[in-house]
Amino acid sequence: MNYKTPCYVIHEKELDDNFIKLTNALQKHWNNYIIGYSYKTNALPWIIKHFNDLGCYAETVSEDEYNLAKLIGVSKDKIVYNGPIKTKDTFIEAVNNNCIVNIDSEREIEWLDEVDIPMRSVGIRVNFNIEKMCKGQSQCPEDGGRFGFCYENGELGKTIDILLSKKVRISGLHLHTSSKSRGLDIYRAIAEVACRIQKEYSLELDYVDVGGGFFGGLPTKPQFDEYISLMESILIKCFDKQKTKLIVEPGMAVIGAPVSYITTVIDVKDTEFNRFVITDGTRTSIDPLMTKKAYFHRLKINGERYVHPKQVVCGYTCMEHDRLFEELEGPTLQMGDQIIYDKVGAYTMSLTPLFIKYFPDVYVENNGKYDLVRKAWEPEQYVQLSKY
Ligand SMILES: Cc1ncc(COP(=O)(O)O)c(C=O)c1O
Repeated sequence: MNYKTPCYVIHEKELDDNFIKLTNALQKHWNNYIIGYSYKTNALPWIIKHFNDLGCYAETVSEDEYNLAKLIGVSKDKIVYNGPIKTKDTFIEAVNNNCIVNIDSEREIEWLDEVDIPMRSVGIRVNFNIEKMCKGQSQCPEDGGRFGFCYENGELGKTIDILLSKKVRISGLHLHTSSKSRGLDIYRAIAEVACRIQKEYSLELDYVDVGGGFFGGLPTKPQFDEYISLMESILIKCFDKQKTKLIVEPGMAVIGAPVSYITTVIDVKDTEFNRFVITDGTRTSIDPLMTKKAYFHRLKINGERYVHPKQVVCGYTCMEHDRLFEELEGPTLQMGDQIIYDKVGAYTMSLTPLFIKYFPDVYVENNGKYDLVRKAWEPEQYVQLSKY
């Protein structure tokens, strides 16, 4: 064994094979595209550098993410800058550097007055009623999403007018919509709204940015080819493939599936009610928001075992609800057995709290070889930049 647990493992070949499926779909259906890798989904330095090497732009939504992209060597114009909490300095710098900047708030419109280049260009994040178009699939069915300028109440139209009056070029529309379903309907709606807005305001766009929120790497879910060909069939009615780029901002779809989390059983104890199997991993490392109902998991054990009626597999923290799953009628687990959780690359490392233990090791696995790409944090890293 050439790794120690607990650890995350990035399966490089699986990552690259899945990424090729995305680029193939884009080449086939809209061969004028940009892939902006969503930093918030998992900004481990090895991962963001790897996506940069694969030709992705950095999709960033804060000053820290924007500066992180520059720190790891992303070219100054290969950054997509989104979200409502950009800072003024980085916003102005990004517009100056010809980054893809999608405005999300009124203050950004004011900041444009301080950008001193002949042609200022920005995209606009659109807020639209996705629930009306895809019943039951949106994240906020009752009161709608909170990002971007609202199409239905005229705020988007006002913003377009203000930008035009300031002689700012509207280079794109940004329509990212997180959904419960990640379904094809969502992307049909996004493409239809892009067309509707293009026609209504006679926009000549350099890009339509449909955001992230796709499934990827899961055979039972929609495939990249289906998403992109569906959007092609709609966008083609209003946009010229040569002139208008399709921007996608995948996170989950490209880093969710190829990452595993490996844990080891460190203790087994019986109580009046249960057999508890304690591991050196924690639920907070694979489900930090504690929202998932089940985890993709498998056991790695040696030798024959008696079947046990019920074992409750737990994490190392002192929280009672750090219980990962119940193994019913499964092999009796013992110290040293491994429990591996798969498809845990998205919104895990980026959200894991520094609770009780610090960040674990991360390896990249290639052909059965493990390369340590982030050493676990120890107290030395925890106290850095602190006064005590
Ligand atoms: C603007 C934007 N782009 C891309 C993404 C990535 O989404 P996912 O990781 O679901 O693909 C998000 C996620 O919230 C987002 O807000």
